[in-house]
Amino acid sequence: MDKRRILIQIDADAHASVFDRVVAVDAGAEQLFSYAGVKPEQVQALVHGAIFTRGPKDLKHTAIFVGGSDVGAAEKLMHEALKHMLPNFGLRVSIMLDANGANTTAAAAVRAAARHLTLQGAPALVLGGTGPVGQRVARLLAREGSHVRVGSRQQARAAAVCRDIAARVPNALLQPVEVASDADLSAAITGQTLVIAAGAAGVVLLPKAARAACPTLKVAIELNAVPPVGIEGVGVMDKAVNQGGVLCYGAIGVGDTKMKVHKAAVAALFESNDKVLDAEEIYALAQQF
Ligand SMILES: NC(=O)c1ccc[n+]([C@@H]2O[C@H](COP(=O)([O-])OP(=O)(O)OC[C@H]3O[C@@H](n4cnc5c(N)ncnc54)[C@H](OP(=O)(O)O)[C@@H]3O)[C@@H](O)[C@H]2O)c1
Repeated sequence: MDKRRILIQIDADAHASVFDRVVAVDAGAEQLFSYAGVKPEQVQALVHGAIFTRGPKDLKHTAIFVGGSDVGAAEKLMHEALKHMLPNFGLRVSIMLDANGANTTAAAAVRAAARHLTLQGAPALVLGGTGPVGQRVARLLAREGSHVRVGSRQQARAAAVCRDIAARVPNALLQPVEVASDADLSAAITGQTLVIAAGAAGVVLLPKAARAACPTLKVAIELNAVPPVGIEGVGVMDKAVNQGGVLCYGAIGVGDTKMKVHKAAVAALFESNDKVLDAEEIYALAQQF
């Protein structure tokens, strides 16, 4: 008889994410072991509990989900978890990172853009490009061969993100852009066919007039659901809504695909015991939607 599917949720927050727990159940996890407030030095024991209990042939029925609201903290937990797997002996379990929904949201946003544009060679501006979601959006676009402008209020922050992506993505076409004034914004959006806004909740990054003044723009994707939204005039529910020739997506419009991707990724963890699902692998799963 097949073993029950156990998902081990590792979360740095005081309370393990209810959102991630609900999705885990809906994605087919039969048992959910949730650990909150996890620190890197506590990960080894959790991983050992996962890999030393079932034999290698049954380890695909155990998996780890790393979540929580702090993406940086989750990345450290993921790194630590991978360190303590023993792949040479087949003693490993599949693992996925989706802290704050950053990977699944970025994957869904880039997938939405790809429905309407050839991303290879597309000039694309990522507003709020220094946050966890924006960085992943920029990275995925760079992997697709887009000419990516990474926007930030501070040039140095945008440049740091570009350096990080360039180190991961050979031949990435990246340009850091400071977007601290209306004139900066106008220069940053000029010639772009795609804009993805991944700014902080409740902050307008692209006013209507600036969007209207960009005749090359074809697709505008907004990821902030908290009013006011980042791309002024885009409805949170919008899904490829044509506004003056620009196809617009709002946060919930993208969220439908995000949820499908999140569930598909959790389900994929139980297909084998060697999956490591980060932004790129989750984006690959998004291609089916
Ligand atoms: N739809 C979904 O399912 C889903 C899931 C996760 C997240 N989200 C949304 O996606 C967006 C991005 O998430 P995140 O966690 O990456 O965001 P974040 O870290 O909170 O913010 C992203 C960037 O926004 C810029 N920013 C912050 N405050 C600003 C202000 N007052 N004015 C202008 N820019 C400001 C900052 O860039 P600089 O300081 O470099 O300018 C920051 O790095 C959020 O709106 C979040 O709510 C949606």
